[in-house]
Amino acid sequence: MFEVLSNEILAENLHKMVISAPRIARARKAGQFVIVRLAQGEERIPLTIGDADPAAGTITLFIQAIGGSTRKIVDTEAGGFIRDVAGPLGKETHITNWGRVACVGGGVGTAVLFPLVKALAEAGNEITTIIGGRSSRYIILADELTPLSKDFLVTTEDGSMGSKGFVTGPLAALLADPERGPQAVFAVGPVPMMKAVANLTRPQGIETVVSLNPIMIDGTGMCGGCRVQVGKETKFACVDGPEFDAHLVDFDGLTDRLTSYRDEEALRHAPHDCKLAKEVAK
Ligand code: FAD
Ligand code: FES
Ligand code: MG
Repeated sequence: MFEVLSNEILAENLHKMVISAPRIARARKAGQFVIVRLAQGEERIPLTIGDADPAAGTITLFIQAIGGSTRKIVDTEAGGFIRDVAGPLGKETHITNWGRVACVGGGVGTAVLFPLVKALAEAGNEITTIIGGRSSRYIILADELTPLSKDFLVTTEDGSMGSKGFVTGPLAALLADPERGPQAVFAVGPVPMMKAVANLTRPQGIETVVSLNPIMIDGTGMCGGCRVQVGKETKFACVDGPEFDAHLVDFDGLTDRLTSYRDEEALRHAPHDCKLAKEVAK
């Protein structure tokens, strides 16, 4: 059993949960994830290890309550317990000092991006971070990302924060600037966003890494649920990834697989009315 030490709401439907998991906190590297099972019989849910404190023995998860299982997980209050937290899983991010790096995050992808930005900054990279969301309510981790970034840019679809539009706008401007153009780009977010970023950087051959979020079940390379097409090869994101060369990923195939179970998922959907959400709404 893993104790939930704190649970706070950062943005609409987005919770930050700190969990006691000393072994994982010591072993984890940037880019890795855990598979969480709230209780026996519940779904296994892959979640990026957003941060860790080895001295305190804690890991931090940023969880978007999007469906039946994530809603139940974020409903666990401080002092409550999660039955299984398996990990760290997946390959760690390949971190080096590229010089200038652009880190692009969309929606909850920003939470997955956060540990990468931290590791890239520690390796001495000069980082331009660009994060986007539908409106200011979906912009997360700005306070945490700003001190790690040389430039920190926000885009919103409705213009309520930063510049109006998509993250690809400022990224295209950056790529066109020979003085500021990045040597590597990291992008995490909705599949269409990652595909658009890959298409932008492809002509210049800029190394571009995306973190993929296919449906995962066991997380150990056994079930094949998380298979993705990368170049001519079939890869299992849980053991071969979750990060891959963006220029080789079959994003259309990934979209097809991610939407395969929409009808079944809808059956478990219920309004998000956990106690914390009700308190915030008051
Ligand atoms: P459902 O209504 O069942 O599904 C909603 C959508 O989530 C589906 O359409 C599908 O696209 C996806 N999904 C459903 N089941 C799974 C599954 N078993 N595995 C993967 N995706 C699924 N979300 C976060 O909020 N924070 C994170 O840090 C985070 N990190 C992730 C890291 C990895 C490596 C992966 C693969 C996914 C990550 N996700 C993260 C996504 C998260 O796992 C899904 O949102 C969650 O599984 C949805 O479950 P649900 O039952 O609440 O929603
Ligand atoms: Fe089963 Fe990756 S989740 S092989
Ligand atoms: Mg589900």
